[in-house]
Amino acid sequence: MTMRAAIYEKYGPPEVVTIANVPKPDPKDDEVLIRARATTVTSGDFRCRSLTVPTGFGWMTRLALGVSGPRQKILGSEVAGDVEAVGKNVRAFKVGDPVVACSDTKMGCHAEYVCLPEAGTLAHKPDNLSFAQAAALSFGGTTALHFFRKGKLQPGEKVLVNGASGSVGTACVQLAKHFGAEVTGVSSTGNLELVRSLGADHVIDHTREDFSQGAARYDIVVDTVGTAPFARSKRVLAKGGRLLLVFGTLPEMLRAPFAAFAGKKVVGGIALGNPEYLRELAALAQAGKFTPVIDREYPLEQIVEAHRYVELGHKKGNVVVTL
Ligand SMILES: NC(=O)c1ccc[n+]([C@@H]2O[C@H](COP(=O)([O-])OP(=O)(O)OC[C@H]3O[C@@H](n4cnc5c(N)ncnc54)[C@H](OP(=O)(O)O)[C@@H]3O)[C@@H](O)[C@H]2O)c1
Repeated sequence: MTMRAAIYEKYGPPEVVTIANVPKPDPKDDEVLIRARATTVTSGDFRCRSLTVPTGFGWMTRLALGVSGPRQKILGSEVAGDVEAVGKNVRAFKVGDPVVACSDTKMGCHAEYVCLPEAGTLAHKPDNLSFAQAAALSFGGTTALHFFRKGKLQPGEKVLVNGASGSVGTACVQLAKHFGAEVTGVSSTGNLELVRSLGADHVIDHTREDFSQGAARYDIVVDTVGTAPFARSKRVLAKGGRLLLVFGTLPEMLRAPFAAFAGKKVVGGIALGNPEYLRELAALAQAGKFTPVIDREYPLEQIVEAHRYVELGHKKGNVVVTL
């Protein structure tokens, strides 16, 4: 049996992605087989496809993905769909259940079918989300939760989100508000209304104003863009303030311990898939407290267009691919 999938056999521009027939996977005893209804093209897919990574991470990424070409030829780390079959040891899911999942570094979601372990980052789909919204639940949301937990966000703290209109940024704004923070979102002029609508108390237009020169002080600065490293953010970080480097170069990460001399902290690293975080996001979505933002939807046949758009670095929330 075969299925349609978007594959890439070499690193490069969006055009290296093609649609092909590939073998349909069979679930192992502890796995569910998902018939995908929607997936996403994330900034992570763009980075893996093109090997465009922050300074210092190039060789690590190539080693992880494949030195001469990608080992996993199907990109995509998010999926929403229906359970089509389950392995004999699976208890929490049954055939026909609508589910949402994150395959994380295993990728493989740009395909009609995906197999994932029951104990993986997998949850029942919130009824009030469409498949398109559900597909976009995990990438930005689990990244935001990971960094806010590492940065020990407390209710009442002041949080600035640099890049507040992207996938991670839109999740950070909504979740920081939900956790009781006072939120400032930084975005370009056209996205200020979106950021406000997500609950931001204040917005800053990065094309007109430099947040790092303002009078406000923040307990947490989240940098999802790479334009707010410690050298730029330290002035506006309050005493005990934390800089969460969602996007950070290796030299920035290596300099992180020195922030302690200024009584501040830099938190870097990679947010990996987390089943608990996905279930938390699904529960928040079900309660109407978190809604993934969808910018555009493309059918699988137009996935190259989706890659082109994501690569521009200005999407509003998430880009969905429907199957
Ligand atoms: N560490 C981790 O584990 C982890 C996890 C997920 C993602 N990431 C990384 O985090 C970054 C963000 O991911 P994403 O998916 O949210 O990307 P995205 O959806 O493409 O969003 C990027 C955002 O950056 C904003 N931006 C561009 N130039 C800007 C500038 N000069 N100043 C302020 N904002 C600017 C854009 O907003 P405007 O159009 O309004 O300017 C856009 O909304 C990516 O580099 C990704 O690789 C890291």
